[in-house]
Amino acid sequence: MLRTHNCGELRIENAGNIVTLTGWVQKIRDKGGMIWIDVRDRYGITQLIFDESKSNPEVLEIARTTGREFVIQAEGEVIERVSKNNKIRTGDIEIFVNELKILNKSKVPPFTIEEETDGGEDLRMKYRYLDLRRRPLKENMLLRHHIMQETRNYFSNKDFIEVETPFLIKSTPEGARDFVVPSRISKGEFYALPQSPQTFKQLLMVSGFDRYFQIVRCFRDEDLRADRQPEFTQIDCEMSFVTREDIMQVFEGMMKHLFKTIKDIELDDFPVMQYSEAIKKYGSDKPDIRFGMTFHELNELAKGKGFNVFDNAQLVVGIKVDGAADWSRKQLDALTDFVRRPQVGAKGLVYVKYNQDGSYKSSVDKFFSQEDIGKWAEVFGAKPNDLLLILAGESEQTRKALSELRLKLGEEMGLRDHSVFAPLWIVDFPLLEWDQESQRYYAMHHPFTSPNPGEIEMLDTEPGKVNANAYDMVINGVELGGGSIRIHDKEIQQKMFKALGFSPEEARAQFGFLLDAFEYGAPPHGGIAFGFDRICALFGGTESIRDYIAFPKNNSARDVMIDAPSPISGDQLQELHIQLRS
Ligand code: AMO
Repeated sequence: MLRTHNCGELRIENAGNIVTLTGWVQKIRDKGGMIWIDVRDRYGITQLIFDESKSNPEVLEIARTTGREFVIQAEGEVIERVSKNNKIRTGDIEIFVNELKILNKSKVPPFTIEEETDGGEDLRMKYRYLDLRRRPLKENMLLRHHIMQETRNYFSNKDFIEVETPFLIKSTPEGARDFVVPSRISKGEFYALPQSPQTFKQLLMVSGFDRYFQIVRCFRDEDLRADRQPEFTQIDCEMSFVTREDIMQVFEGMMKHLFKTIKDIELDDFPVMQYSEAIKKYGSDKPDIRFGMTFHELNELAKGKGFNVFDNAQLVVGIKVDGAADWSRKQLDALTDFVRRPQVGAKGLVYVKYNQDGSYKSSVDKFFSQEDIGKWAEVFGAKPNDLLLILAGESEQTRKALSELRLKLGEEMGLRDHSVFAPLWIVDFPLLEWDQESQRYYAMHHPFTSPNPGEIEMLDTEPGKVNANAYDMVINGVELGGGSIRIHDKEIQQKMFKALGFSPEEARAQFGFLLDAFEYGAPPHGGIAFGFDRICALFGGTESIRDYIAFPKNNSARDVMIDAPSPISGDQLQELHIQLRS
């Protein structure tokens, strides 16, 4: 090694040792008689010291020619510092340098490589390798590594084996768009990159592997958000001879293991909530249950009093904000503006202030008596000083808008504490979703998800009412994972395809290989996949998964560092049998 120690490990006990360190120059302070250089590597920062009255003039000369981010090698003696720095672990010592070598020069970096940087998002993405030198990003990468190791430990100890599945495949039956790869050898044909290894892991169950997992890259061509990347990583799992409860237990165990080993937090057993209850109480299938503010419906009480907005609404629903009756006009106007934003989509916001003296002041006093509003307050369980916020309109849209408002208020009121973790399972999702535009059902999860036991016959009669034998794991309002018990029976699978509007021929063309496999003794099986990047972000305490991916894409799905996607040469196009339209 070119070093005897790393930059994070020397302590006062090492005083007197002769050591060699290597690393990057973080900072240089030249006070004439004395020079200090902070040298940084992955492990920490150590201060080097040069003294004009004692140091070799040649060494001083080299010290003076170094610049930020130069790569250096310094040999010297560990000495106790006069003024100690308790902010860093090596802060009690410094190295009196006897020999200094510049191993490589550096251009002045485009932004400061410190805890807080002056670099804008785009610049840091372009020079991602420099951004990764900064401590916060470096720690995110270490966190990711540890979570990965602990995931593998957990599964290996439970007899799961990691099997790699192919990346060049045929479209998987998930919902997003595929990224496709043209074939050179088969003219006019394309591979698709997997949106998940769904069908392969089911085939592995047919092969008898019984307990499979894989930490695997998945590709989806969908619109990006803070918690979505076009290529992301899943912890993908499948098990045979299990019920839904068995699966939930094993993967709740995985999450508890990660919390214990990574964050030293013991989680209680996860509550289980039905999809219908989540929608009714929180307006979302991934509720943040760190705080209350649950929904209360007012259809019965609020309609028929001459207020058109309520009378014409499919749903009148609200939340109670404790102790907020004194919020100003300006604050309420800001909330109204928020719900009216196109992304939220409500038409307006009705408020009721439950005054300290027991009276009510509302934005709909014209239409409702104090007695009317008193009844609403009862539904909400309101106390004097509470504020009620009410939305009305088409059911699904109104619930969604109120959910957005609830989350915003939770955030602003400090109820979404990053150090608190509130996991739950959501179960009993609808199996199918009706699509108005194409006038057909789509599988809410994928076409291999089994209906709930006991509801299979309804597939023929009332497909829209069938629930899926599926489950999502949600923590703090983030969908971390989802899965289901699969259909392993040919007849049920055929019923499912029929409900989805697939002819037997279409089903065969798309999934023939799986249907064939299921003819050779498919065991009852089920599984789940977790968003690995989302787990990292949750553990790291931030929203954006990009900070936990070494080389992510930007919001336009571009890698600005390597400049991809990019055009390819005419020759390449020709070889791939692709003609571009001008
Ligand atoms: P699903 O599509 O729900 O299920 O995906 C599983 C989990 O993957 C994460 N995830 C994403 N993370 C980052 N960026 C994205 N674009 C992205 N899309 C999804 C989420 C999600 O919960 N094959 C099924 C699983 C199964 O049935 O076993 C599947 O892929 O955290």
